[in-house]
Amino acid sequence: MSFIEKMFEQARSDKKTIVLPEPMDKRTFEAAEKILKLDIANLVIIGTPEEIEKNGAGFDLTGAKIVDPFNDPNKQKYIDKFVELRGAKGVTPESAKETMENDYMYYACLMCKCGDADGAVSGACHSTGNTIRPALQLLKTKPGISGVSGFFVMEVPNCELGENGLFVFADCAVNPDNDEDKMAETAGLSAESFESFCGAKAKVALLSFSTKGSASHDRVTMVQNATAKAKERFPQYEIDGELQLDAALVAEVGELKAPDSTVAGHANTLVFPDLESGNIGYKLVQRLAKANAYGPILQGLSMPVNDLSRGCYADDIVGTVAITAVQAQRAGK
Ligand code: ACO
Repeated sequence: MSFIEKMFEQARSDKKTIVLPEPMDKRTFEAAEKILKLDIANLVIIGTPEEIEKNGAGFDLTGAKIVDPFNDPNKQKYIDKFVELRGAKGVTPESAKETMENDYMYYACLMCKCGDADGAVSGACHSTGNTIRPALQLLKTKPGISGVSGFFVMEVPNCELGENGLFVFADCAVNPDNDEDKMAETAGLSAESFESFCGAKAKVALLSFSTKGSASHDRVTMVQNATAKAKERFPQYEIDGELQLDAALVAEVGELKAPDSTVAGHANTLVFPDLESGNIGYKLVQRLAKANAYGPILQGLSMPVNDLSRGCYADDIVGTVAITAVQAQRAGK
């Protein structure tokens, strides 16, 4: 069974309510029809009757709840919550109403925060920054976690490396200004994500252009310090660094360059030193190795919200909804 089929099966076993706040795009409705047919989530679609009519006509949305952001009996509750959460940052009832009406992702996050939904998926027609900013502002991080990062589950065909071709790559989506503390936290969150989604023990490599001191540079020191902090903070996981990519993945190279490491040569969770290498790295593997790349999946948030690529297909929305529903199941345990 493929990774995504497992997610569908898991999502179906305890259905969660997921909000789709992009009625301005037909792909939302094409995906909604498929999600309802697959029975993997209860759906809320935010949109006015005009938006639903314009882009949803012809799709079978039976079972989906449609919430009109201009005529919703719960709207005042969301405005009050918005002001409660962001009043100190200058949000007033008037500005809350205006923001929610102009940007439905805020509406979706407030539905999650008020317990009317378990998660949200957006990004088919919004940038990553605009998709995740409302979640960062309103939902915030899990207790004990200071930063959100974004990972991909990479499923590489015909590959014996990692967990038979299954990997977690992070951070590929969120933090343009990485540092050793953020990288250490991303390592621990990624280990948890790998074990939760891939069902095997994580072996986490903090990547660099150096292996165990083979080069010296401030960038190398950053990864060395991040490794030490990650090991100290997350002793329950197998974590090592700094490792070059080949030393992390290939047994013979790992044996040669880092003979004392139990991660080197066997890594299945790759933590990149910056957003450039993480974002470029996952796209290289996706395009050149024809890997399935599921994500970016946000880790560290108090409730699951996930982003889509603007080039996504309806099937990508379906997959992301399934993954978000599974995250919501696990958050509830
Ligand atoms: N974790 C938790 N909270 C965060 C994080 C984080 N990583 N980053 C920002 N925040 C919080 C801030 O603390 C702040 O909260 P506050 O308003 O309550 O004080 C709020 O989010 C807004 O933070 P800003 O510093 O104003 O940051 P900004 O809104 O400018 O940007 C963002 C945050 C959206 C994450 C930005 O860093 C970004 O755009 N990242 C890159 C996204 C991207 O383009 N990725 C690549 C494409 S993805 C792909 O290819 C799949």
